[in-house]
Amino acid sequence: MKNLISQLLAEAVSILQNQGVLPSDITPSIQVETARDKSHGDFASNLAMMLAKPARMKPRDLAEQLVAALPQNAAVAEVSIAGPGFINFFQARDWLAAQLQKALDAPQLNVPQAAPAKRVVVDYSSPNLAKEMHVGHLRSTIIGDAVARVLEFLGHQVIRQNHVGDWGTQFGMLLAYLEENSVAAEAELGDLENFYRQAKKRFDESEEFANRAREQVVQLQAGDPQCLALWNRFNSISLGHCQAIYDRLGVSLTPADVRGESAYNDQLADVVDSLQQAGLLTESDGARCVFLDEFKTSEDKPLPVIVQKAGGGYLYATTDLAAMRYRHQVLQADRVLYFVDQRQALHFQQVFAVARKAGFVAQDMQLEHMGFGTMNGADGKPFKTRDGGTVKLIDLLNEAEQRAYQLVAQKNPELDTGELQQIARAVGIGAVKYADLSKHRSSDYNFNFEQMLSFEGNTAPYLMYAYTRVASVFRKIDRNMSQLDDLAPLVLQEAAEVDLAAHLAQFGGLLEYVAREGTPHSLCHYLYELAGRFSSFYENCPILAAAEPAQRDSRLRLAALTGRTLQQGLNLLGITTLERM
Ligand code: ARG
Repeated sequence: MKNLISQLLAEAVSILQNQGVLPSDITPSIQVETARDKSHGDFASNLAMMLAKPARMKPRDLAEQLVAALPQNAAVAEVSIAGPGFINFFQARDWLAAQLQKALDAPQLNVPQAAPAKRVVVDYSSPNLAKEMHVGHLRSTIIGDAVARVLEFLGHQVIRQNHVGDWGTQFGMLLAYLEENSVAAEAELGDLENFYRQAKKRFDESEEFANRAREQVVQLQAGDPQCLALWNRFNSISLGHCQAIYDRLGVSLTPADVRGESAYNDQLADVVDSLQQAGLLTESDGARCVFLDEFKTSEDKPLPVIVQKAGGGYLYATTDLAAMRYRHQVLQADRVLYFVDQRQALHFQQVFAVARKAGFVAQDMQLEHMGFGTMNGADGKPFKTRDGGTVKLIDLLNEAEQRAYQLVAQKNPELDTGELQQIARAVGIGAVKYADLSKHRSSDYNFNFEQMLSFEGNTAPYLMYAYTRVASVFRKIDRNMSQLDDLAPLVLQEAAEVDLAAHLAQFGGLLEYVAREGTPHSLCHYLYELAGRFSSFYENCPILAAAEPAQRDSRLRLAALTGRTLQQGLNLLGITTLERM
């Protein structure tokens, strides 16, 4: 609606320009806002006030001219002028009702498919395989997944890339440990965290072990078959752990999406050569670096991107450059999104700039670091176990489900254990995911079980419950939310109906925004608002007890679209809805 109104206003502006009322050399940026006070209109624009000066006119006079020049449109019922020169628009209710009817009838809630569709690489999760996934990996995994789903829903071609850290010096230590004690180590591999700790302990206590670890790295990098076999063994176990977490979280990553750092090994020398040829390379203390003018320390010293160490080893940045080239040349991406901790912002700015300078990517390929803030403990301090260790993601999810089980069992004493477990799983995992997704992507937040499992406020249980409320209306009359053909049409009468309808009509536009900005929190916000508007509707407008059958039918349609939008929205966040809870 806002876009439409902006277009209408733009047309009015160009008409006035042709008539010589407005100077022809201005291209105004047109703002349309949702009106807070709906008594004057649903939307408002301050365009006349913005243009009054360059037009040398009184804002109100200009507003009148603009309104007179405004093309007719079925979506707009009435236009008026208020205050110093605001132009107010009333949405046409019959038009709105027709939009919702289309959403009910068409596939995918009639959300338009992106044109043109893009090939979008989404780099997410990407843990380092030396350790088990811990709480620090939650955000990169679920935020990236939600955005990938939204992009796909809008018709983009999404290529998931799990750029795991499966290469590097820490592997020498793990391999040396695997080799030293293959039987015990095999058993300990079940607990990667402990395995890592044991290996580290050996590394620290024995000089001889440490030397062997260093040798292992050299041999591994030289392609020694035995080292490679051990390394493969380690990685497959480690990736198995990751996959178990993905499945448990309901994240859409599969083993086929894994293309880790090691996949670029054979391209790293060439990356450095190409940088050399492009004249971008400088040697500094034996290391090979790229210095770009735009990157300086706070003391104005040049800040290098190191691509090869003095000893010949390659770095994180080198791999990322190779990956970017691959994503351009082989995957032919139009857009690459990186869901990685905000603290890596400088790294990405630098490698993006280097890749562009070196011509590793097309000039119009979009490279976007979708940074996220840190998840802290409930007290705002770093999230740690009682003895100060890192919290494993698996333990966190187990606790969430246990807590959810208790809550659900209290609420539904009549359900059997199997059913309770199923509900607890959906609620527990949904709560953890939603609590994270609903926070502004780039801010830090405090992880709090009590809050996220509350049935009130902007939480998964609240939204999942809102969905079951809709579902129960349809259960009562033994109907399916998706089959309403025999019902009377949708007619919007009460204010609560119009409010709900106007919000429902914004779903497609909102998803486009989420796809562009990479912000699942805006979708959460949208759904929370939707649930709230449904509540007011539900309280003010009896559905099954409506005064007339036609009214009942219309409200059933509105409720059905709400239910289906809630379900679709939660699914895009990777959260399962339940028919009852
Ligand atoms: N493995 C890295 C880490 O744990 C994240 C990798 C993100 N992706 C990338 N292409 N750099 O910090």
